[in-house]
Amino acid sequence: MKRIIASAVLASAFVAAPVMADLDLAKKSGCMACHSVEAKVVGPAWKDVAAQVKDRARIINSIKKGSKGSWTSVTGGVPMPPYSPRVSDENVEKLADFIMGL
Ligand code: HEC
Repeated sequence: MKRIIASAVLASAFVAAPVMADLDLAKKSGCMACHSVEAKVVGPAWKDVAAQVKDRARIINSIKKGSKGSWTSVTGGVPMPPYSPRVSDENVEKLADFIMGL
């Protein structure tokens, strides 16, 4: 019994760790000034992005070069600033995968 509980705890730690790391990366990259996972802040909620945008290349492009006009009905037309090269290509891809997986 003890062993079962210990492995369940271990398994959930392994599942939770990458998500936490990616949220940390988003915080460090300054994304959370305008975004949250659950709710619109300045930009759209990332859960809404995950539900509506299935195009990984578009999300990567939006983070690298910024985005304008895609979420006007939610944001009132505020643009998203470009993040390349402030955020490395590798981290942009991590953030895109994190957002798409929400
Ligand atoms: C200054 C505010 C601001 C910051 C900081 C910001 N965003 Fe955004 N973000 C926005 C706005 C506004 C939009 C909606 C743009 C539009 O209508 O096209 C948006 C849209 C997006 C989208 C959807 C793009 C699409 O193609 O539909 C993604 C993904 C995203 N942001 C990720 C990020 C990530 C990752 C970071 C950090 C590296 C970040 N944002 C930082 C304001 C911001």
